Amino acid sequence: MTLWVGMVLLPLFLPIHSQTVNREMPVDLPFQAEGVKLVQRGNHVEMSNGIVSITLTVPGGSVTNITYQGSDNLLLTRDKETDRGHWDVVWNGPAESTAKTDNLEGTDYKVISQNENQTEISFTRTWSSASSLAPLNIDKRYVMLRGSPGFYTYAVLERLNGWPSFLIQEGRIVFKLQENKFHYMAMSDERQRFMPTREDRESGEQLAYKEAVLLKNPTNPEFNGEVDDKYLYSSDNKDNKVHGWVSNDKVPIGFWMITPSNEFRTGGPIKQDLTSHVGPILLSMFISRHYTGADIDVKFETQDNWKKVFGPNFIYLNSNASALEDPSVLWNDAKLRMKKEEAEWPYNFLLSEEYLKSDQRGSITGQLLVHDRLVSKQPMPAASAYVGLAPPGAAGSWQIENKGYQFWTRTDEKGNFVIKNVIPGTYNLFGWVPGVVGDFKHVSDITISPRSSVTVETLVFDPPRNGPTLWEIGIPDRSAAEFFIPDPNPKFKIHPYKLPIEKFRQYGLWDRYTDLYPKNDLVFTIGTSNYKKDWFFAHVTRKMGDTEYAPTQWQIVFNLKTVDKEANYTLQLALASATAVDLQVRINDQVSPPHFETGFIGRDNAVARHGIRGLYRFYSIMVQGGQKLVVGENKLFLSQALGSRKLEAFNSIMYDYIRLEGPPINIGVAQ
Ligand SMILES: *[C@@H]1O[C@H](CO)[C@@H](O)[C@H](O)[C@H]1NC(C)=O
Ligand SMILES: *[C@@H]1O[C@H](CO)[C@@H](O)[C@H](O)[C@H]1NC(C)=O
Ligand SMILES: *[C@@H]1O[C@H](CO)[C@@H](O)[C@H](O)[C@H]1NC(C)=O
Ligand SMILES: *[C@@H]1O[C@H](CO)[C@@H](O)[C@H](O)[C@H]1NC(C)=O
Repeated sequence: MTLWVGMVLLPLFLPIHSQTVNREMPVDLPFQAEGVKLVQRGNHVEMSNGIVSITLTVPGGSVTNITYQGSDNLLLTRDKETDRGHWDVVWNGPAESTAKTDNLEGTDYKVISQNENQTEISFTRTWSSASSLAPLNIDKRYVMLRGSPGFYTYAVLERLNGWPSFLIQEGRIVFKLQENKFHYMAMSDERQRFMPTREDRESGEQLAYKEAVLLKNPTNPEFNGEVDDKYLYSSDNKDNKVHGWVSNDKVPIGFWMITPSNEFRTGGPIKQDLTSHVGPILLSMFISRHYTGADIDVKFETQDNWKKVFGPNFIYLNSNASALEDPSVLWNDAKLRMKKEEAEWPYNFLLSEEYLKSDQRGSITGQLLVHDRLVSKQPMPAASAYVGLAPPGAAGSWQIENKGYQFWTRTDEKGNFVIKNVIPGTYNLFGWVPGVVGDFKHVSDITISPRSSVTVETLVFDPPRNGPTLWEIGIPDRSAAEFFIPDPNPKFKIHPYKLPIEKFRQYGLWDRYTDLYPKNDLVFTIGTSNYKKDWFFAHVTRKMGDTEYAPTQWQIVFNLKTVDKEANYTLQLALASATAVDLQVRINDQVSPPHFETGFIGRDNAVARHGIRGLYRFYSIMVQGGQKLVVGENKLFLSQALGSRKLEAFNSIMYDYIRLEGPPINIGVAQ
């Protein structure tokens, strides 16, 4: 944990680029390197620096050709020019039921800067009411530096008051690579492997949804029986910093998507999203419903003004002959490059005024303590807590926030934190502490201005707590990873990764509930059951037939030696995910109307997407001792109920943590 915090904080302590740095100077590379050239031929423009060349359509600004050290085009030439390397948004107007993809093609091309050290080009489009495209102004930029093995891309999207209302479901950068060259894919130390091909998917059998395919006759017979699904390769925003592919050339080439800051992504640090997948495809996702649902769509009303910078991303290319034997050599090098890009962010060389440089940004420092009055008399440092600035909203609102920027870090062992390079604006300071239930929000707004450094007084998080713990299940950390995660059905072959991957990243685990509990549902007995073995990670439906699913009811059995009939007990219930359910809680009575129900919640689909969390939800449920509890054995029933709705495989809940608290004791009074 210490190491992790150190790694994240490290770049923050590096000196900020001073004002005297020559804007035109390349970040790091030898002056003898060939200068950057820009050549326009008809409706294409080529930018090259002797290491990398990229060709774009003019004025659209789609990337049609990328070469590295004299290689062939690394992009998939089978697809049309505008589909090989491009930005896009998936959007729809209020009255439209189907979403449309807009590749954000420019209508004007302009050279922003062109010299031996740096070239920046811009592709713009201005919306007009006659347009059938997304109501956005677009400025898409591509930047190449002398001596730099790659190029940068970023975009400014804008909409103005008076334009039609609409919403964006998805926003991303896409690169499709040559399918006969790129076979090895990596997005983490653990998840990297030779991949099946697009044809392998086509000859396979579609499983519960179109993205998941059982490989039946793959080119590489070792993959026979494996499941391919792009969601197996998702990452948290906080970890989604570098991913990509390695080619099978004599001197293999690595093609990497580096994202030095995720300030522009929606949903905060633990929102998950796609990375690379079979195609071969690389994505930089910055807006999506994945693991969240439509709550996170970027919705605009007629009167909204909005402008936001997406990116920059660095497309990094590398090569090394020894990668022929071990392609992870190029992954390791790409990781080092990612750390270097992270340390240099925010880049001082990008020329759009909308992209704020470090001297236009501010910072915040502080310390977070946590005071669970039944755990400690005094507030304790909130170690390794997540702390972040996000646009103002209720506690926890950052997880569906989508129009502004977010800046997150983790505290050290003493709860100290520093967040540098924050874009000026008004924010709320949010957080949560692994091991502690609930959401923290600082009472006052935080205003960040250019070059300012805000210090917040010691902050104290008072987590939900009414009385002493009678029993608890799980760890409050917004994840179901600590619970029982089954092996996949033996009919699906587990890919033999060199390093173990997280157990939840397998296809079809939901159906294992029916295998383990064919007739009777899960019963968890406090004192004898162990949540690591006896609490299935997801409360799913039971498979009754090919398309028939039945609701399930779980039980927690617990003993009480005494019950204070006059007092209130509290059930603290934290969910890590919910998909189309109404969770009902009953106590010592299996059939009568529920003591509590959530109502219909959840569209995060984390179970189907092999995630271990979606949106976090927290409920504090009051239980009157006299009415509900008895001395001796008690039973708490948790059930999915959907009335007359047809149940499906993915109607599910992942619990994060459940705690029953006894009657309040005098915890508000200093002792
Ligand atoms: C891609 O660009 C390189 C460098 O300009 C050029 O040699 C090559 O012919 C181009 N490939 C295609 C398929 O256009
Ligand atoms: C490019 O960078 C070099 C090294 O800093 C500098 O001497 C040269 O003047 C720069 N060229 C331009 C056009 O700025
Ligand atoms: C290529 O990879 C090997 C093995 O990791 C490493 O020792 C060597 O320095 C690398 N070469 C280059 C040019 O990066
Ligand atoms: C228990 O909760 C109810 C409802 O909030 C409240 O009216 C009652 O006063 C509480 N009882 C005690 C003993 O605090």
